[in-house]
Amino acid sequence: MRAPFRVIVITGASSGLGAALALLYAGPGVAMGLIGRDPERLAASAAACRTAGAMVESALIDVADGSMLAAWLSDFDDTYPVELLIANAGTSAGPDPDTPGEPLAITERQLSTNLLGAVHTIAPLVPRLCARRRGRIVAVASVAAFRGLPYSPGYCASKAGLRAYAEALRPQLMSYGVGVTVVCPGFFSSPMTDRWEGSRPFLVSTERAARRIKRGIDRGARRIHFPWPLVLATRIADLAPAAISDAILRRMHFHIRSP
Ligand SMILES: NC(=O)c1ccc[n+]([C@@H]2O[C@H](COP(=O)([O-])OP(=O)(O)OC[C@H]3O[C@@H](n4cnc5c(N)ncnc54)[C@H](OP(=O)(O)O)[C@@H]3O)[C@@H](O)[C@H]2O)c1
Repeated sequence: MRAPFRVIVITGASSGLGAALALLYAGPGVAMGLIGRDPERLAASAAACRTAGAMVESALIDVADGSMLAAWLSDFDDTYPVELLIANAGTSAGPDPDTPGEPLAITERQLSTNLLGAVHTIAPLVPRLCARRRGRIVAVASVAAFRGLPYSPGYCASKAGLRAYAEALRPQLMSYGVGVTVVCPGFFSSPMTDRWEGSRPFLVSTERAARRIKRGIDRGARRIHFPWPLVLATRIADLAPAAISDAILRRMHFHIRSP
């Protein structure tokens, strides 16, 4: 079967969801740009995609470094005009549950990776995709985008910001023939989830999450939100009077260990 996208860039391709999506999209005739920071994990992910038949260029780039990322994306796009861009790189951390607030450094790191890093990934290619009048941009946010949750203000802010950024781009980019997909998943197993101390309702495997996300991307979904009970719960928590949702949410106890 012909691959739906022939040129694909994925950030955070060295681990978890990004590596799983890369492998699902890899195949003969597919050119891939894979971005991450850890050399060994990124090399392993790239090797698996090559074994599946894809041509792979990988790059060790911190997505917080906007100029380095823009230069690499432009060079790659000059040779391989990008059709699918997946802004997936992300990090998570939370304060000690017994300490009020969140240390500024933790908040800044999450905003600069999850929000600015995704903007650094998307913005340089928007004019190019629009000029070619084709392509799809995918922003991997989280169900944490729907309602600020205790013990993770920086993470929730970064994902809410990314969701809003991508939703804001979509209507305008539609008139240029460029699609935007916003992904808001719940828990899937990955090194990030391993650092979550607390319950993980409706946890699915990374592979299952990746297959579901790929199906949505390939059919041009504007939003991929799952699992529905968690999506519904976080959306109701946002719509409900704050006094009620705060009373429920303050009973939640979890801690996200720093990487
Ligand atoms: N796990 C979940 O349950 C869950 C739920 C909802 C949403 N998400 C989101 O899904 C995405 C993937 O998460 P995951 O669970 O697969 O996490 P993961 O296994 O920890 O992988 C995170 C990926 O992001 C990369 N990354 C992190 N910081 C980076 C930076 N500054 N510059 C470049 N790359 C960076 C990592 O690369 P290196 O390791 O090479 O640094 C790694 O490839 C994230 O955006 C996450 O917020 C996850």
